Amino acid sequence: MRISVVTIFPQMFHAVTDYGVVGRAVENNLVSIEPVDLRSFGQGQYKRLDDRPFGGGPGMVMLAEPIVECIGRLRQKTKDDAPVIYLSPQGKRVDHQDISKFSKMSEMILLCGRYEGIDQRALDIIGAEELSIGDYVISGGELAAMVLIDAVVRQIPGVLGNEQSSSQDSFTDGLLDCIHYTRPKLVAGHEIPAVLLSGDHEAIRYWRLKQSIGRTWLLRPDLLEQKYLNKEQQQALTDFQEEFEKEQA
Ligand SMILES: C[S@@+](CC[C@H](N)C(=O)[O-])C[C@H]1O[C@@H](n2cnc3c(N)ncnc32)[C@H](O)[C@@H]1O
Repeated sequence: MRISVVTIFPQMFHAVTDYGVVGRAVENNLVSIEPVDLRSFGQGQYKRLDDRPFGGGPGMVMLAEPIVECIGRLRQKTKDDAPVIYLSPQGKRVDHQDISKFSKMSEMILLCGRYEGIDQRALDIIGAEELSIGDYVISGGELAAMVLIDAVVRQIPGVLGNEQSSSQDSFTDGLLDCIHYTRPKLVAGHEIPAVLLSGDHEAIRYWRLKQSIGRTWLLRPDLLEQKYLNKEQQQALTDFQEEFEKEQA
């Protein structure tokens, strides 16, 4: 997969390309991440990229023409169906389904805004899809693009080893992940659930399923509303709820 990122701060992307899971995927040629310096498309001697908003008001707006030109140049190198995604607080909130869809694509172009945002005509001309990382505003699209890149890249087959498979991660099957424990067995008087030391793989599998469904019920009931539970999952939820009620009593 090739991910091109249009930004005024290309250096920021070392934070994803040089570290951790995404860094290894880049090293192993499973993905290439190519920041494109928008400044080189800027206007005049000072490579200007912004101007005051028509109609007045605070802040600056990113110029349409450098963005249209830059995306046009990238489009010549990418397939026609490569999406152009403008990271924007006004876009659709990204979820696991979007990430899964993007991870199957061979190319995508990300566009990072700054200041008050981008002249609307640029977005109309390039046909950008707007995606948000949440209902809050950050200062630029770069961090949002990095969030998207990290989430997409970890879904690309071969990026995570078997030990780290994303198949158990929260949201993958519409549920939250189970809880986890590691050594030592006792921390400040807190023990771990005995079943995890039992060596009984079937009992451990069922306990994890119960935790996963139970925590989804407790913390994200909205997810459960959208999910069909099979017989075993329904039983695991009932067991969790009974244990939970006993603990609360
Ligand atoms: C300061 S913000 C502009 C916010 C804009 N004035 C508004 O209120 O909708 C600058 C840039 O940060 C990025 N950005 C801010 N919040 C975001 C979010 N929640 N998701 C994705 N990108 C975001 C966008 O690229 C945006 O153009």
